[in-house]
Amino acid sequence: MTQYEAIGRRHSVRRFQMTAIDPHIMKQINCFIQTLAPLHPQAAYRIAVVEAYNTQKHVFKGMFLVQAPYYLVLSAKDHPFAAVNAGYVMEQLVLYLVSKGFATCYLGDAKSKPDLDQYQPMIVVAFGKAAATAVKKPASRKKITELVNQPPVAQQNARKIIEAARIAPSAFNLQPWRFMMQDGKIHIFMKKESLMQTKRMKELTLLDIGIAMCHMALAAEELWLDWRLSREDTSKEPVWKGCQYVATLYYEIKSF
Ligand SMILES: Cc1cc2nc3c(=O)[nH]c(=O)nc-3n(C[C@H](O)[C@H](O)[C@H](O)COP(=O)(O)O)c2cc1C
Repeated sequence: MTQYEAIGRRHSVRRFQMTAIDPHIMKQINCFIQTLAPLHPQAAYRIAVVEAYNTQKHVFKGMFLVQAPYYLVLSAKDHPFAAVNAGYVMEQLVLYLVSKGFATCYLGDAKSKPDLDQYQPMIVVAFGKAAATAVKKPASRKKITELVNQPPVAQQNARKIIEAARIAPSAFNLQPWRFMMQDGKIHIFMKKESLMQTKRMKELTLLDIGIAMCHMALAAEELWLDWRLSREDTSKEPVWKGCQYVATLYYEIKSF
């Protein structure tokens, strides 16, 4: 299974087998972590794997926790795009794990001990083998027409890219992403929700957008498109009432 195919297979799993992963496989996971492509090279981050298969206690404090044999903890240095970047890189890893038969669940409120340097914990993901009793019911999603400024999305490439983002996971399943289409461009917006009042909720919402951007990039790659994620010049930034502009996916058919 490719990472792109894993987009459609992934769902949050909240019951795990508390068993250790083969050290050889663990080594491969750690190697993959080194290959992750960040959105912003200046947004410094690191990912630690926490083993918990031999403990019954919760490793983290916080709400909505899930007990799992392993956790990924992404910490980042302060940067304007730290949260978007965290979602973008963590989702690459989540989809890699799903493609290899593992189950995952983001834990937005899991509080790990702050690092002693400038890196601060941003997001935790539980992972391992799903328990036989794990719920497989997919969560509901907004229709594509609710996410774009001008439905329907007739252009096939844009439709496939937005569809990949539509089914991304998000904190509280808020699905904060919105899309504005122009020729060869999909502008990505974050819906401003009342829940976003707290600093952490805004951070999680930006993280959600980073996750959706990872799905969009994988879809563009699957379509053999030349693509890049960037931002419009400040003077040309697109505007959408009630939404905040985050980034633009530029795409065109590859010329060989
Ligand atoms: C940033 C983020 C934080 C999340 N936090 C939690 C959490 O604390 N506990 C939990 O059980 N699920 C959490 N989730 C999972 C979402 O509830 C889930 O992605 C959403 O309901 C959609 O369901 P699906 O992942 O099965 O498609 C989180 C997801 C994201 C992206």
